[in-house]
Amino acid sequence: MTNKIRELFLLKQDLVFLNHGSFGACPKPVFEAYQAWQLKLERQPVAFLDQSRDIISNLKPVRIAVANELGASSEDLVGVTNATEGLNIVAHSLKLQPGDEILTINHEYGALEKTWELVTERSGAKVVEVEIPLPLVSKEQFVDALINAMTEKTKILFLSHISSPTALLFPIEDVVAEARKRGIISIIDGAHAPGLIDLNLDALGADFYSGNCHKWMMAPKGSAFLWARKQVQPLLEPLVVSHGWTAQSGGPEQQGIFGNSRFLDCFEIRGTRDPSAWLATQDAIKFAKLHNWSEKVKHADALARETAQTISNLTQLPLFSSPEFCAPQMIAIPLPECDVDNLKRRLYEEFNIEIPVFRWRGHCIVRISVQVYNTREEANCLVDALTKILNLGVKES
Ligand SMILES: Cc1ncc(COP(=O)(O)O)c(C=O)c1O
Repeated sequence: MTNKIRELFLLKQDLVFLNHGSFGACPKPVFEAYQAWQLKLERQPVAFLDQSRDIISNLKPVRIAVANELGASSEDLVGVTNATEGLNIVAHSLKLQPGDEILTINHEYGALEKTWELVTERSGAKVVEVEIPLPLVSKEQFVDALINAMTEKTKILFLSHISSPTALLFPIEDVVAEARKRGIISIIDGAHAPGLIDLNLDALGADFYSGNCHKWMMAPKGSAFLWARKQVQPLLEPLVVSHGWTAQSGGPEQQGIFGNSRFLDCFEIRGTRDPSAWLATQDAIKFAKLHNWSEKVKHADALARETAQTISNLTQLPLFSSPEFCAPQMIAIPLPECDVDNLKRRLYEEFNIEIPVFRWRGHCIVRISVQVYNTREEANCLVDALTKILNLGVKES
């Protein structure tokens, strides 16, 4: 069967790619726009990169385009290479004392757990990890667990909007609002959220939010943003100090590169680097609009949910949440006890299926991502392969 949408992507045609969630996939026209930026850079590097020439005016429209998508002001976000970088900037900026607590949950992404490990090692603060029990079937289960764990010592709330291992869309709004009331700084790891759910960062009202554009917005790899509420922007210090940095005490007489924004000055200029992936994010946004992506993803979401339910019926293992807490298009499906590495390898080598299979806190999990380019045949291929390898639906005598 020809698949017109799939032909718009660079993915190998015979690959059953059910893992958009890990690193995304970039459509051809967006990749071409990315390469066009790189060529432009290389043809006249000085005009392109020198701060007194094109770079400042080139960065502005991409900030505006991304901010429009995210319900934010273009003055409140900057491009970063990935969500890990954006969240590291925040984690390393905040001043913590021994005894201070960082409240988080047991569904966080490994690289960020490590980030907090380093921050706490240096500061003497500690991480308090709340368990969100599974299956997640009510908002209260999540909200109460976190609000009950907030104490005088809680200085930071750190949460994934959509979790990596369990692909749950957490109802974070009330928890963020409660944190604000108590003077707790909220930091949201939105690595998966842009392009997957409707975001309105101003309305959400967190203090800091970082998300990837290279996953579900389909920008080239290396495109992400860090958003900061205006009032807390002065708390941030760059990980890499470059020409834009000014001491907080610099005073208004210090003329910034981006007018009066220390935030933009500190983070948009980070030494010599290739900003092409970030610049091409405008083209990813245009691509999604041109192809009416927000309508098309509805089929992809339905296929993801149907496939997850089919596998759940075969394994007789319930999904990790009721439907409202499942992220769109991406579902973590529990599997019976198995050798996860061997299963992942066999899915790839024998069935050409690229999909994450892993062990998380005692659960064996396969996490399916369904993007618009995926077909029902591909989803069926996964069901058939799992059935065969794991002997699903076959009663042991
Ligand atoms: C919840 C979460 N946070 C952070 C990241 C890190 O993303 P990146 O490697 O693009 O920084 C991921 C990656 O999948 C993720 O799932």
